[in-house]
Amino acid sequence: MSERPSTPPSYSSDTTISAPDYEFVRTLLRKEIGFDLGLDRQYLVVNRLIPIAAMFECRDISHLIDRVRQSQDRRLIEALAEGMTINETSFFRGSQKLFDNLAQIAIPALLRARSSNRRLRIWSGACATGQEPYSILITLLEQCPQLRDWNLEIVATDISERALEQARSGVFNQFEVQRGLPIQMLPKYFTKTGDRWQIADTLRRRVTFQRHNLLDSFLRLAPPLDIVFLRNVLIYFELSTKTELFQRLRQCMAPDGILVLGETESTLGITTDFRLNDACRDFYQPAI
Ligand SMILES: C[S@@+](CC[C@H](N)C(=O)[O-])C[C@H]1O[C@@H](n2cnc3c(N)ncnc32)[C@H](O)[C@@H]1O
Repeated sequence: MSERPSTPPSYSSDTTISAPDYEFVRTLLRKEIGFDLGLDRQYLVVNRLIPIAAMFECRDISHLIDRVRQSQDRRLIEALAEGMTINETSFFRGSQKLFDNLAQIAIPALLRARSSNRRLRIWSGACATGQEPYSILITLLEQCPQLRDWNLEIVATDISERALEQARSGVFNQFEVQRGLPIQMLPKYFTKTGDRWQIADTLRRRVTFQRHNLLDSFLRLAPPLDIVFLRNVLIYFELSTKTELFQRLRQCMAPDGILVLGETESTLGITTDFRLNDACRDFYQPAI
């Protein structure tokens, strides 16, 4: 960050991006995080890169892109890739029914199958700011008392260190706790600190947050995994990336494990490595 702009930064809202710069960012995102931008999201790139250009003291976004092009500096590349991620999420995203089905259909079957070692491993891949793994944990605490003396591991990962920082802190603003969290859960699991809400330490300590790129090996997650939430991230990937990811995922999941995708996501036309669960159409499981 030593380079100082010789002219004042120009970050006006009418900033545009040249076709070669757009193509450069598009290729870089595909390679770094699997994000397929498409042809016409110039507005998104401009909006997201303006703060990053400012952070690295670049004159404008074309200066930032030039620096990435010439230096191939990993710090810049990672900041650019992370800056383009969309961390939209909410508590109990999708529907409360999905989480009820997790507790009432998926978990009882797994508890029966794991009764000898009493261990259950859950992974929330692409967890953003943490609402997803915390929703899973609240569901289990509320609805699965049988799990109390089990070895329950919840690992939550994302590529965005910024999102993970908030997830680890367990601090949410008023808007975030009002989105999806049943009202009676707020005083039960959160404490008001100033104008924010802090999740209880007992919950915070039960989720392990780690930075992980879904394009990288899943072995770090110490398979086999019993339940995998991989929601609202595959939509950004191109077909070949999704197919390859499902293939790797299948190898890391227990044969009777449960995979949960986002509402608009499915395996249809992408892979035969997973099939719909017989007992509940919200869930997939590895194909035999
Ligand atoms: C729209 S959020 C979804 C959050 C949550 N799963 C949900 O459904 O509410 C997508 C998340 O995927 C993460 N992401 C995007 N590409 C990724 C990659 N290659 N590896 C890991 N996480 C990635 C983003 O940082 C973002 O937090």
